[in-house]
Amino acid sequence: MKICMIGTGYVGLVSGTCFADLGNKVYCVDRDKLKINKLKNAVSPIYEPGLNDLIKNNYKAKRLHFTDDLEKAIKESQIIFICVGTPNKKKSNLVDLSQVNSVAKSISKYIKNYKIIVNKSTVPVSTGDQIEKIISKKVKKSKFDVISNPEFLREGEAIRDFKYPDRIIIGSNNKKIYKKMKILYEPLIRKGAKFFTTSRKGAELIKYASNAFLATKITFINEIANLCEATDINIEDISIGMGSDARIGSRFLRAGPAYGGSCFPKDTKGLVSIADRFKTNLSIVKSVIKSNNDRKMLLTKRINKIMNNKIKNKKITVLGVTFKANTDDMRESSSLVLIPYLLKKGALVKYYDPSGPKEDFKKNKNLKFEKSINKACLGSDLIIINTEWDEFKSIDFKKIVKKNNFKIYDMRNLYNPNELKKKNIKYYSVGR
Ligand code: UDX
Repeated sequence: MKICMIGTGYVGLVSGTCFADLGNKVYCVDRDKLKINKLKNAVSPIYEPGLNDLIKNNYKAKRLHFTDDLEKAIKESQIIFICVGTPNKKKSNLVDLSQVNSVAKSISKYIKNYKIIVNKSTVPVSTGDQIEKIISKKVKKSKFDVISNPEFLREGEAIRDFKYPDRIIIGSNNKKIYKKMKILYEPLIRKGAKFFTTSRKGAELIKYASNAFLATKITFINEIANLCEATDINIEDISIGMGSDARIGSRFLRAGPAYGGSCFPKDTKGLVSIADRFKTNLSIVKSVIKSNNDRKMLLTKRINKIMNNKIKNKKITVLGVTFKANTDDMRESSSLVLIPYLLKKGALVKYYDPSGPKEDFKKNKNLKFEKSINKACLGSDLIIINTEWDEFKSIDFKKIVKKNNFKIYDMRNLYNPNELKKKNIKYYSVGR
């Protein structure tokens, strides 16, 4: 099939590249010429394991095209995906739909023959109606349909998530359209993905409800971890014991720092604002948002106790600063609360992240990026493990710190407390 992805951010670029890899001809469009030029040299503007190679292969095979010429891309394509950002507005939790609306307007200028317009951006319930209204100002209703097809890709696992999705949701009650979409997704359905159709508004809500539910699950286990600490119980046992119940499921029950990233914080707030608009009180989601915000400081302040209130001039190392492993994304990372707090308290902070130094942490004489775990840990008084990269999982701390009496604060429970105790290392983790 010939398809076009408008927006080469996370969703558009990963989905477009993977659709090309399934044998489709794909036009990835972006108004950012710099980005398009980079992509034409097969350089991905985002860090995602495996993506660069996939772009290279499909670009070479001429299945994947990058352009800023929206008119041509629309003309050539049968299906048009909208994949632009939907951030929250600066001073409220309302979802900013300006990019979606502006793309809808542009699409309306270029439609000459029938197109299926698929919204993949995460949008409030009834945005599909709004897109349809904007386009129908210029184009006859018989020449297009607007449907919803939310994405569920995780950063760092996006290619795997695209190729082996649990489900594909199509928001359209029109049989002809979802048959076409089924053809597009056939290779994934054959591998076991559930293909599910519902109303357009239903699909829009499934996306928000899924993310809010996962955020709730994490927040729940994080609060139970607090109780475990107070009662001397191991949270890992609780996660296994609970997760073995098929109704609960074992995934997303890992206690740790506050959840972050580009989706959960944004979508929980977005969902509450949508519900408020429809005069519905989502009290659970509201308390999840609060609990998660409080958690950033809760875990940070625990450092005072670990260091016996002596943080000033202490050498502190932070391993991993992004919101989770296998990404370079800093959005809503709890390290954005943690590191400024340590600096304010007078600590001398070094950090290492496999994805490189961060813009957010420039300009501070007491904060330094180190190029390796060894350099970052040398001479440290406290090592904080903030994300779960594989290379953090089997460090010989005694060998690289080269100092007695250092402590470890493992926010991801990567190590076995008993083994570190045997090595005489003072070790603190989460919920155990
Ligand atoms: C999420 C959703 O999983 C995906 O389906 C959606 O489309 C986009 O948002 P992503 O933000 O990339 O994906 O990361 P995810 O792996 O879901 O993790 C989100 C946050 O939850 C991270 O901060 C992570 O560290 C945290 N998390 C996740 C936990 O603390 N414990 C867990 O058990 C799982």
